[in-house]
Amino acid sequence: MSEKGNVLLLVGSPRAKKSTSSSLGKYLCEKLEEAGLSIEYGYIHRLMMRKEKQDQFIEMVNDAYMIILSFPLYVDQLPAPVIRAIELLYKNKEKIVKCEEKKFLAICNCGFPEASQIDLSLEICNNFSDAMNFQWRGGIKLGGGEAIHGRDLKKMGRMVRNQMQGLDLAADALLIDKPIPMEAKELISKPIIPARMYKVLGNIGWRMRAIKNWNFFNLKEQPYKD
Ligand SMILES: Cc1cc2nc3c(=O)[nH]c(=O)nc-3n(C[C@H](O)[C@H](O)[C@H](O)COP(=O)(O)O)c2cc1C
Repeated sequence: MSEKGNVLLLVGSPRAKKSTSSSLGKYLCEKLEEAGLSIEYGYIHRLMMRKEKQDQFIEMVNDAYMIILSFPLYVDQLPAPVIRAIELLYKNKEKIVKCEEKKFLAICNCGFPEASQIDLSLEICNNFSDAMNFQWRGGIKLGGGEAIHGRDLKKMGRMVRNQMQGLDLAADALLIDKPIPMEAKELISKPIIPARMYKVLGNIGWRMRAIKNWNFFNLKEQPYKD
């Protein structure tokens, strides 16, 4: 741990290391690590499983001076274990040390191409941060997250150049204790591939998965209708 404490990356996807949430959070954290900060990784689904894990989670938050929450959008909301995690922190607020000194930011990606689907969930994160007396550093949103599908941004190269440039700017701001600038947010939420192409590829992927699972001919069935 550095003198200030750790940067804690909390990944809120059950895909854990193979998630787009992890790809985005890890890229940002590697930039912070290059500047000398120490990073700790936490996977919320695992940390919410048992009481001992939850205690470990509270300890990790206590050791952190910056918390980055990266999660996928589920039904226009934060995934249930992420909601459980933030509720747990709020209920245990008196056990969290130096709340006022902790910086908090959120990254959310979603499956639909429009990043605006994420606005409400980032507002919830902002409200949570204020309720905890953390220093809100801003929310980052990315639509069409399946175009990344848990891959390493650096290996994807040009395709995600806007996202990498935006995350670089975000890291620069965080390192001088500033909120994430609008320019960074706009670059990150730029479409990775055009929305129409994303939808065509999504439909092809859906049918391929149906074939793989022997369900190609019953895709339009509505068993619960009536
Ligand atoms: C249960 C479930 C609910 C989802 N709900 C939404 C949704 O409301 N809006 C959306 O755009 N994407 C939705 N998605 C898609 C995910 O947000 C998307 O696949 C995302 O890129 C996954 O990120 P991850 O790899 O970090 O888990 C949902 C996915 C699942 C599994």
